[in-house]
Amino acid sequence: MKANIVLLPGDGVGPEIVAEAVKVLKAVVTRFGHDFEMTEHPVGGVAHDLCGDCLPDATLAACKAADAVLLGAVGGPKWDALPPEKRPERRALLTLRSELGLFANLRPAKVWDALKGASPLKDEIVARGIDILIVRELTGGAYFGEKGRSADRTSAYDVTPYSAHEIERVARIAFDAARRRHGRAVAPRPPKVTSVDKANVLETSRLWRETVTALHAAEYADVELEHMYVDNAAMQLVRDPARFDVILTENMFGDILSDEASQITGSIGMLPSASLGAAKGGLYEPIHGSAPDIAGKGIANPLATILSAALMLRHAFGLAAEADAVEQAVSDVLASGVRTADIASPSGASSAVSTSEMGDAIQSALSGF
Ligand SMILES: NC(=O)c1ccc[n+]([C@@H]2O[C@H](COP(=O)([O-])OP(=O)(O)OC[C@H]3O[C@@H](n4cnc5c(N)ncnc54)[C@H](O)[C@@H]3O)[C@@H](O)[C@H]2O)c1
Repeated sequence: MKANIVLLPGDGVGPEIVAEAVKVLKAVVTRFGHDFEMTEHPVGGVAHDLCGDCLPDATLAACKAADAVLLGAVGGPKWDALPPEKRPERRALLTLRSELGLFANLRPAKVWDALKGASPLKDEIVARGIDILIVRELTGGAYFGEKGRSADRTSAYDVTPYSAHEIERVARIAFDAARRRHGRAVAPRPPKVTSVDKANVLETSRLWRETVTALHAAEYADVELEHMYVDNAAMQLVRDPARFDVILTENMFGDILSDEASQITGSIGMLPSASLGAAKGGLYEPIHGSAPDIAGKGIANPLATILSAALMLRHAFGLAAEADAVEQAVSDVLASGVRTADIASPSGASSAVSTSEMGDAIQSALSGF
C-alpha cells in the first residue's frame, strides 16, 4: 500500500529514536512491498528556535494532510522559560491533538517475556501474563468541562460533561481493538472489553454504562463485555492484571489507570501510544518525554518508538501482519539478550547496546538475517 507518513522527531532524544523507527519502517517496506513516503517536519523546541513557533503552520498542515504522524518527543530545559502557551508541550502537543481531533488514546501495557524481572509486581502475578490495552477518552469529561470558583473563592467546581455520541465513538474504538487483538496469533483469550466507570455514584458514568451496553448489544455481541467500578479496576490492575484485555474508560479515570498500568510493566523506554480520531491516521508516539539527561549520548531505548510505529501500521493502515512482525522482531531481539542500558540488569549495563545498534537488531530480525 501507499502511505504518506509525517515524522516529527522533535527535541532531546526524539531525533535519535525516530531515526530507528524509520529504519524499521524501511525494513517493513522491503519485506512486505509497501510504498511509504516519509517526510520530516520541525516541532517543539527545535521549531521554536527555527521560526519562533513550536508548531509551525507548515508542520500542522503536513500533519493534517498525512495518512499518519509519528512523533518522537518535545520539550526540554532550554524552553522551560517560555510563556506556558508557547511551550513545546502545550503549543505543539495539545494543539496537535485538538487540531487533528484525536479523541481516543490507546496505550498498550505489556510485560515482554524477556523482561519479566523489570515489573515491580510479584513473580507469580507476572507469570500469569500482562498484555493490556487501555483505551482512554481524550477530549471530554472534567478536563474539558466548565470550571470555576465562587466569588469568595472558597468553593470550586469542574463539570464532567459527556454525550452519548462521545461515549459511543470511543467505545467503538475499544471494541474494534479487542476484535483485532483476538485476530492476532498471540491472542491469549477471546476478545474482552472491561468498561470502567463509577456508575454507583456518577450520572455521567450511568450514561457511559448505558451507552456502552447498548452499542455492545447492537454491534459487538461477539466481544465479551464487563463493567467495573474504577476503584476496583485500580485494585485489580495490581492484584490480577491477567484478567484484563482491553480497558475502556473516560478521560480522568484513563489518565490515572494508564499511568498505573504503564508502571506495572517496569520500563518507560518500552511503552508506545496511539491517539486516534474520526479521520484516518492518528498520532503515534512513545509515552516517555525528550529525556534531556541522556540526549545526544546514543543510549536511549528506541523500542517505544518502534512499537509506536507498529501501532501505526495496525491502526492507521490496517496492516496487522506487518505490525505483528515488528512486535515479534522486538520480542525475538529481547529474547536473544540484546538490551539498551535502561533495560539491562545492573551487571549487564556495561555491555548494553546503543540506540542505533538496537534499531539495527530489530531491522535485521525483521529482514530475516
Ligand atoms: N509527549 C512528549 O513529548 C512528552 C511527554 C512527557 C514529557 N515531555 C517533556 O520531556 C522533557 C523531559 O521530561 P521528564 O524528564 O519528566 O520525562 P522523560 O520521560 O523524558 O524522562 C524520564 C526518565 O526516563 C528516562 N527515559 C525516558 N525515555 C527513555 C528512553 N527512550 N530510553 C531510556 N531512558 C529513557 C530519562 O532519561 C529520564 O531519566 C520535559 O520537557 C517534559 O515536559 C514530553
